[in-house]
Amino acid sequence: MKKPTRYIAAFDSHGCHADPPTMRAFWAFLALWKPEIRVAGGDHFDFSHLRTKASEGERYESGQQDFQWGLDFLRRFKPSHVAWGNHDARAWQLLDCPNANVRVQAERMIEEMEDAVKTAKVVIPYDKRQFIQIGNLKVIHGFSHGENAVRRAAAVYGRVLHGHIHRAESVRIDGIDVREAFSSGCLCKVDLKYNSRSLGTLRHENGWAYGEILPSGHTTVHLARRVGGVWHLPTEFRSIS
Ligand SMILES: [Fe+2]
Repeated sequence: MKKPTRYIAAFDSHGCHADPPTMRAFWAFLALWKPEIRVAGGDHFDFSHLRTKASEGERYESGQQDFQWGLDFLRRFKPSHVAWGNHDARAWQLLDCPNANVRVQAERMIEEMEDAVKTAKVVIPYDKRQFIQIGNLKVIHGFSHGENAVRRAAAVYGRVLHGHIHRAESVRIDGIDVREAFSSGCLCKVDLKYNSRSLGTLRHENGWAYGEILPSGHTTVHLARRVGGVWHLPTEFRSIS
C-alpha cells in the first residue's frame, strides 16, 4: 500500500521578530518529522520600514537584520512550496516606486529572496486567486482579518490552511462539499511593539501546521501548539479501517 506523504507548513516568522524558543522547537520537530513537503506560508520578512503607513521611527529603522533573518530562515528551511505573504510582498511593491534607486534596490532584494527559495518547485505571489494544492487541501498565506477570518477562508476556498492572523483555530461551515479552514499559529513573537494596545492580538499564539497526504488524497491537518509551556506533538499516526 502507498505510504502517506508528510508535510509541514510554517507561517509568519516575520524576519527579526521570530520567536527564538518557538524556532528552536520548530527545528527540533522538523528533524523528527522529516516531511517531504515543506511549505513556507509567507511573512518570513517583516519589512515594517517599507510599510506605506510606516511611522517616522520605522522608516529610519535598518531593515538589514530583518532581511537577513528572513533569508536565513528560508535557506535553512529549504521549502518545496512558497506562498509569499503581505509583508514579503512589500518588496515587489517597491518596483513601482518613482525613485529609480529604490527600484534597483528592490530588484536586488527580490533576487536574494528568490535565491533563498530556489529549492521550491511551486512559488506563488500574494494574490487571492492563487493557492498551493497538497492533496485535498489548499494552502494560502491568508487574506482576511478579524473575528470571521477563518470562516471566510472556508467559504471562499473550501478545505484550506492559512496563516496571516497568528491564531491557531479551525472552523467548518455548511456545505455539500467539505468546507473547513485551519489557521496556523505564528513563528514570530506574539507580543510586538505595534500590537501592545490591540485586544484582538491576545488570541495570537505560536505554532505551525503539519500532517499527511493519505493514499486516498485526503490531507490531515494538525496544529502544533504549546500546551502548559511545552510542545507535546504526535509524530506517529495509524490508519484503522
Ligand atoms: Fe500576513
